[in-house]
Amino acid sequence: MSNIALPFKRYTITSALPYANGPLHIGHLAGAYIPADVYVRFLRLNAMDVVYVCGSDEHGAAITIKAKKEGTTPQAIIDKYHAQIKDSFEEFGISFDIYHRTSERIHHELSQEFFRNLYEKGEFIEQVTAQYYDEEYHQFLADRYITGTCPNCQNEGAYGDQCEKCGTSLSPTDLINPVSTLSGKPPVLRETKHWYLPLDKYQPWLEKWLLEGKKAVLKPNVYGQCRSWLKSGLQPRSMTRDLDWGVDVPLEGAEGKKLYVWLDAPIGYVSATKQWALDTGNDWEKYWKKQADPADDACLIHFIGKDNIVFHCITFPSILHAHGEYILPENVPANEFLNLEGDKLSTSRNHAVWLHEYLTEFPGKQDELRYVLTSILPETSDSEFTWKDFQARINNELVAIFGNFINRVLVLSHKYFDGKVMPATSLTDTDRFIFSELERYPKHIAGSITQFRFREALAQFMNVARLGNKYLADAEPWKLIKTDEDRVQTILNVSLQIAANLAVLAQPFLPRTADKMFEMLRFDGRDWKNAGGNALLSAGHQLGAVQLLFEKITDEQVDAQLAKLSIAKERNANAATALAETKDNIGFDDFVKMDIRAGKILAAEKVAKTKKLLKLTIDTGIDHRTVVSGIAEFFAPEEIVGKQVAILVNLEPREIKGILSQGMILMAEDTDGRLDFVAPQTDIRAGSVIR
Ligand code: MF3
Ligand code: ZN
Repeated sequence: MSNIALPFKRYTITSALPYANGPLHIGHLAGAYIPADVYVRFLRLNAMDVVYVCGSDEHGAAITIKAKKEGTTPQAIIDKYHAQIKDSFEEFGISFDIYHRTSERIHHELSQEFFRNLYEKGEFIEQVTAQYYDEEYHQFLADRYITGTCPNCQNEGAYGDQCEKCGTSLSPTDLINPVSTLSGKPPVLRETKHWYLPLDKYQPWLEKWLLEGKKAVLKPNVYGQCRSWLKSGLQPRSMTRDLDWGVDVPLEGAEGKKLYVWLDAPIGYVSATKQWALDTGNDWEKYWKKQADPADDACLIHFIGKDNIVFHCITFPSILHAHGEYILPENVPANEFLNLEGDKLSTSRNHAVWLHEYLTEFPGKQDELRYVLTSILPETSDSEFTWKDFQARINNELVAIFGNFINRVLVLSHKYFDGKVMPATSLTDTDRFIFSELERYPKHIAGSITQFRFREALAQFMNVARLGNKYLADAEPWKLIKTDEDRVQTILNVSLQIAANLAVLAQPFLPRTADKMFEMLRFDGRDWKNAGGNALLSAGHQLGAVQLLFEKITDEQVDAQLAKLSIAKERNANAATALAETKDNIGFDDFVKMDIRAGKILAAEKVAKTKKLLKLTIDTGIDHRTVVSGIAEFFAPEEIVGKQVAILVNLEPREIKGILSQGMILMAEDTDGRLDFVAPQTDIRAGSVIR
């Protein structure tokens, strides 16, 4: 039996609060939720005192911009998405003790208390500065209200608070070529008062606490980012905003100002814990505040995606430190990004696998997605989800190995022994080897989980299933049953012990599957300390009915998903041409330079070896001339002979595919790319002027 050394008495585990401005996709799960959930479930199985909190992040420009886009109110947006997000988390078994929301009063009050605490200590720098302002929308532009080019990596879509490409935290005035996301216009500067957190003042402390103190525990991707920010020197950061949605700044003379969303959102972890404690009769301070004896302090761990590192390693710890009564994070195991089918996940381009859609398209297959995502978690670098890989992992691993093994053991036990566990009378070397492996693996898995190496942990878990599958296949009890029933009793006993171990070990990763297994085995030894046992099911124990654990994913299912993604891609390509940019004004003189005439198509033929080109002979009234036109996808040559056209006759002749094209036929292009002739509606003499 394995007992795990977990150094803390109490754990406070957080997953990033998702913005309630849209549904969740697989990138969310793989970033901050599946790893945390595996970790938390593991802690609970080890009887640790743990609280796991999360909630919706309902402030900030992410919400107000979405509301504007949908022509509704921020409140309507957060209500809609909070409910949807909460539901998706529940479906996938993300086992928060509470899923809270930052629009709750308890959260506003606690955030204001934090602000006031720091204000009264004189921590903030109060400053009137010139800030970007959108004159058309009468609004100051911070954070996501302003975009421009990142001074660090030249990414053209950097936001006013952060470049999501390189992770650098920015101020609007750092952006090159800033543009308002409201009006699309360059902003002007206007004076306004704000309260700044002096990160430069905390820099020496941060270097000691983080760079020295956390060097051994932080993941290299996290440590590296922190070191480079500290190296470039921290600047004071404004903790207030000129906005009308958010937590009010609790000061006189700050009417109409709100707290910066990255000040209030992480405090959401604390307010969620507070609400949970109220609901359950617990003491929230034990999970957040420094205790009289530091040995009693809780262990705080933030699970996040890499775009949140600066806020969890620099800003929020500085706030907690400045406050003084709070514990600091022990670790921040941030994940990199998950890509999809060779491309970045994108909400705006609809290049994503949405959880609420997955749930209706693959009902009951939550664990399958958990399994695949855990296998490919972007733990050390970006990783990629593809539907083919999804299918392969489910069919070749879950179905062919794990599911197959469990199914066989149970079916055979029912067939030969009426579903009773038989005694293991005499053990062979192979059996003993199996038992020693069963004892070894849980330690390995536990070690991987406690070091945040979830992919490795899952791979070890699958090795146990593989061990069982191979043991049973090699032992061939279905052949031996005719000659050596005693041996078959032992083989099935050993196999059932493996199955019971798998049920225990599956819990952190595949909670629904584990539940089914406990039911099938009529076994409820859920504690992690049972893992490694070779007599979890005793002789004479009656097993339950067989249930199917996993089914194959068909090619049709994969194709349907791929088709869905390419439809989204097509829509985007079309949307891009939907409304062409307007051009700069021209003078009448420029316009009259174009000699456009009514003409008639005399002959048409396809240009050899091209898909799009037709060679047209046009009667221009002036002459008969050849024009090459890219309309072959929309018109057959024979159907357009005799048609009237508008033709630009003084366009410099050009050679196209070896043919001299003298002029251009005017066409209208629909938003879906379809072309049609622009031409006089009645019979007009060829050569007539069009203007
Ligand atoms: N809403 C933020 C995002 O999606 C994460 C907030 S995490 C918290 O990037 F710490 F602020 F809560
Ligand atoms: Zn950048």
